[in-house]
This record gives sequence, structure tokens and C-alpha cells, in this order.
Amino acid sequence: MSTEYEKIKKSYDSIKKKIPFKPVYGVVLGSGLGDFVEELDKVATINFSDIKEFPKPTNKAHKGKYIFTNINSVGVVFMQGRIHHYEGYTTREAVKTIRLMKLMGITNLILTNAAGGTNKKYKPNDLMIIKDHLALFIENPLIGENDDEFGIRFPDMSEVYDKELIKRIKQAATKYKINMREGVYAQLSGPSYESPADVKALVKLGVDAVGMSTVIEAIAARHCGIKVAGISCITNLAAGLTKKFQSDEEVLINAKKASNKIFKIIKEIIK
Ligand code: HPA
Repeated sequence: MSTEYEKIKKSYDSIKKKIPFKPVYGVVLGSGLGDFVEELDKVATINFSDIKEFPKPTNKAHKGKYIFTNINSVGVVFMQGRIHHYEGYTTREAVKTIRLMKLMGITNLILTNAAGGTNKKYKPNDLMIIKDHLALFIENPLIGENDDEFGIRFPDMSEVYDKELIKRIKQAATKYKINMREGVYAQLSGPSYESPADVKALVKLGVDAVGMSTVIEAIAARHCGIKVAGISCITNLAAGLTKKFQSDEEVLINAKKASNKIFKIIKEIIK
């Protein structure tokens, strides 16, 4: 057994009794995108702080809770708040949150995030389906001893974002008349925002939206065979594309505005 697997198993064992059912879907809620969870009928809540050997969020906008609920009679675990590399955790530590959901039993994962639009056609409050990602600028979360219990040493990443889940997101967008973009997301480490030169380079590399999360989670999920979908909420235009400076206030205000739309889409995906 790999050491990392043993640690995550310890985390799992420390909360096993509190997990009410085997969830089918995991949903990671990005900054400001999770307000709707308060309205749901919660079956159980587990705080990260009650889980052994587990990272704690240091970012106030991220609560650090797993919330269990049923949507369309399907068991779902929402992750309210995520762990970021910029908080001082290795990317391997940051994806423990995903691997713990694997042990809970999820087979599908919906990742959401707040992102800066690098594509000139994008506007704040647009939503973007992540069709692919750029992982070149962030430490791979699988570096280190391979956790064979989760997956193979050299996992394929040709199709990270699941075609069927993308189809369902598109159907939901059509049903609710939500204008969806579809593009490439890049994760940078943060916590500082990009410089205009960073953004120019990202555009040349084919990036449509940039943020500080998601890619490492998608890699960890694919490693252990979970199907993945990703939705970015474009909360601002990236540096250099607007006269405005980047601020987390603007990111949170615009993410909160998108929270309802994201919930409508999630309800349509989970069937
Ligand atoms: N850059 C990086 N991360 C972000 C941004 C951005 O412009 N907006 C929201 N998260």
C-alpha cells in the first residue's frame, strides 16, 4: 500500500461513520459559487477540520465542508470550498479532497471555478464549459510514489473532460437559455494574479480562461477513473484586457451572481 493511500484511508476511516450514503456525484464549488447549497436539504455535513490527516482551507471564501444531499434521487456530495496550492499545500496534498471522495464512492465529478477570461470575446458573467486544460504551469499532483490503489503510473490525459457530461451541460444550457462558452482552462499557481505579459502568452498557447485551481483536481480524478466535467464562471477579464485591476472582491461578486445558473446546470447533469 502506498504511504499516501494509507493516509487517505486514515482520513476516510476517521469520518466513515458520518458518511450517510455512497454518493454517485462529487461537486466542487468554486469561490462564491456555492451559496445555493444552503437551501438544499442536507443529509449530513462533514467539516474538513474533523477529518484526520487532512488539509484545512486558509481562504475565507472557502468553507471546507462536505455536504451530502440528494438531487433527483441521486446521492451527491458537495465540496464547499477547496484547497489550493497557493495556500502552501503541495498539489498532491491539495487533491486529497478528490481522493477522499473517490473512497466515498463517487464515479462522477463536476468541478466549478471562478476564472479570468483571456479570450477577448468573453465577458464577465459568462460561463464556460472546460473542454480541455493546460497543466504546464502547475506541479503535477501525481508526482511522487505512485498510488497504485488509485491508478497507474502514467495515466492518459487525452480526454479529461467527459463527452457525455459535456453534452448534458449543453442540454441544460439550451433548456435554461444560458449562454455557454466552451474553451481551454489553464491553472496557474497564484496567489498573485497574472501580469498582462502572462496573459498574452496564455492567449498564444490557446487558453480561454485562467485560474488557480481545477486542473490538478481533474488530473487526480482521471488517475483514479472518475469521470470529470468542468465549468468556469468568468468573473473578470484577465489582466491587460481591461483597464480595471484584478481583485478578489470583483471575483466574488460576479461568482455569486452565477451561483443560481450553476445550480440549474448541476441539477440537469445529475440524473
Ligand atoms: N486570474 C486568475 N484566477 C482568477 C481570475 C484571474 O483573472 N479570476 C478569478 N480567478
